Amino acid sequence: MVIRNPEIFDLGQDQTKFWGDQGNRLDWFKPWDKVLEWNNPFAKWYAGGKLNAAYNCLDRHLNGARRNKAALIFEGELGDYRVLTYQDLHREVSRFANVLKSYGVEKGDRVTIYMPMIPETVIAMLACARIGAPHIVVFGGFSYEALKDRVLDAQSKVIITSDGSYRRGNIIPLKENVDQALKTVTCVEKVIVVQRTGQSVAMQEGRDIWYHEVVKNIPIVCPAEEMDADDMLFILYTSGTTGKPKGIVHSVGGYMVGVSTTHERVFDLKDEDVYWCTADVGWITGHSYLVYGPLANGATILLYEGAPDYPDKDRYWEIVEKYKVTILYTAPTAIRTFMKWGEKYPMGRDISSLRLLGSVGEPINPDAWMWYHKHIGKERCPIVDTWWQTETGMIMITPIPEVTPLKAGSCAVPFPGVKVGIVDHQGKPVEKGDSGYLVVREPWPAMLKTVYGDDKRYEDTYWGQYAGMYFTGDEAKWDEDGYFWVIGRVDDVINVSGHRIGTAEVEGALVDHPAVAEAACVGRTHAVKGQAVFAFVSLKEGVVVHDSLIAELKAHVVLKIGSLARPDDIFLTDELPKTRSGKIMRRLLKDIAEGRAMGDTSTLADASIVDLLKKNVNQKT
Ligand code: WTA
Repeated sequence: MVIRNPEIFDLGQDQTKFWGDQGNRLDWFKPWDKVLEWNNPFAKWYAGGKLNAAYNCLDRHLNGARRNKAALIFEGELGDYRVLTYQDLHREVSRFANVLKSYGVEKGDRVTIYMPMIPETVIAMLACARIGAPHIVVFGGFSYEALKDRVLDAQSKVIITSDGSYRRGNIIPLKENVDQALKTVTCVEKVIVVQRTGQSVAMQEGRDIWYHEVVKNIPIVCPAEEMDADDMLFILYTSGTTGKPKGIVHSVGGYMVGVSTTHERVFDLKDEDVYWCTADVGWITGHSYLVYGPLANGATILLYEGAPDYPDKDRYWEIVEKYKVTILYTAPTAIRTFMKWGEKYPMGRDISSLRLLGSVGEPINPDAWMWYHKHIGKERCPIVDTWWQTETGMIMITPIPEVTPLKAGSCAVPFPGVKVGIVDHQGKPVEKGDSGYLVVREPWPAMLKTVYGDDKRYEDTYWGQYAGMYFTGDEAKWDEDGYFWVIGRVDDVINVSGHRIGTAEVEGALVDHPAVAEAACVGRTHAVKGQAVFAFVSLKEGVVVHDSLIAELKAHVVLKIGSLARPDDIFLTDELPKTRSGKIMRRLLKDIAEGRAMGDTSTLADASIVDLLKKNVNQKT
């Protein structure tokens, strides 16, 4: 295999030099003293430097022709639309930043954003960044209980939300969820509510404020706070192996350099592009490649509020046609859904403006890759399959368009300046052709700074497995050409439609139900979602099984976490297979859920449970 323009990879060999050069792409109030201060495993990128993320996304584009360029094109689910130029966005962000300040939000104060995909969400994020208040965006699909956990963990002072959000013609009551979440919470002083649906909502005197009222008479000039490169830009919660979701902390300098560099190179950005990342801002992809990376690069971003099948299954292609989208970044689960719906939907629209396609969130199976290539890319658009994580902040393994030859199903090679590897149980590199654990060998600029409030968890989870290496939680293989093929998670994280769900969280939600004694969840292969949650549940003594019990248990998970975590299957069993020391053997449950040959059962306390389970599951599915 020949890489056509290998210079870019040579450039990345000297990591510090490469990232030092890339640092110059941003505007700094004060240059850094040192590209990297590495106090294993704590990194300070661009140590001593001062900058502001919102300034880099907005102010620096205002001097030339870019000030009148569309920064954000918004398409509402109902077909309403709005365009904000860089100048407009700058004004709205400054205005809202002043609102936050007027309510006492200061540098370092945490602000939770629980919003639909509307312009005010991006404005709110950038307003927080402008005054140095770390934001915590909580996906609008999370339940009020999940919202409450995050608000409490981060001790947010303010919540920004909307009355409701449109989804497939229905309305999700976001403000009502906030009210529920805040019933027993005392840290939140103000709730700022954007009017989106116009439904009636309860406004609590002294606490709740309408956005449109407070932005009216407020100055439009708000200087950007000078932040240390190492200061916190945002916290984003993600699922891990154990317990509650972790607050992943990203800092300003390294993150902004990492996302803007990768965004420009991986998407081969041109000034005239219309760039559409379909991820929700509640996920890391929405942070890095819908907001911060593209706006730092002066791109035109498209923000779509709604579902891909509303009002019809060609909505995405209608949007591509309407705005002449050139770059589309989406997830394999969406592609598999489009496959299922059939090619007549994209064929009915003129999508010839597209020139580059991207994929993220889970392994893209070669079938889906080929379909994407043929029916969306019309066999001429390169596909960049990008591997990365909430924790990595930026794309880590990816092809570079027109540089790296593509292979369907492989995310290709590490980005320049990123050193990844595959190791065995002992941390030794595996040979080409073999698989093992995916690790990162050297620090990289957009790496997480820590887990919020828990440096030890950061050290143990990510750097404790193999000394000096960051453990990703993924299994991967590399082939004879050095291309990476990510297989999936090796920890207790289930990837449902590209969303990370911790088995421990779903199990916690199930045992919270009064009828449940014990629960164990595993991921089961699913044709569209990638994986689906399969739960094994044992009931408390004396509980009578009734017809709607399973539905009730599923609803309870939705209440505790959100519909994204709803188990597809719940299987009732008298007992769960355990080792003699009492540990539930999830590996065996996974074998059962997948209907495959059983692994080693010798450590089981009672082997008959497994045979019984297997027989019953087979009969049922
Ligand atoms: C998986 C999303 C294969 C992987 C940006 C990772 C992928 C987890 C890919 C992170 C890809 C993401 N190919 N697997 N291109 N991209 N993953 O934190 O298991 O939501 O560890 O970040 O998604 O999910 P997260």
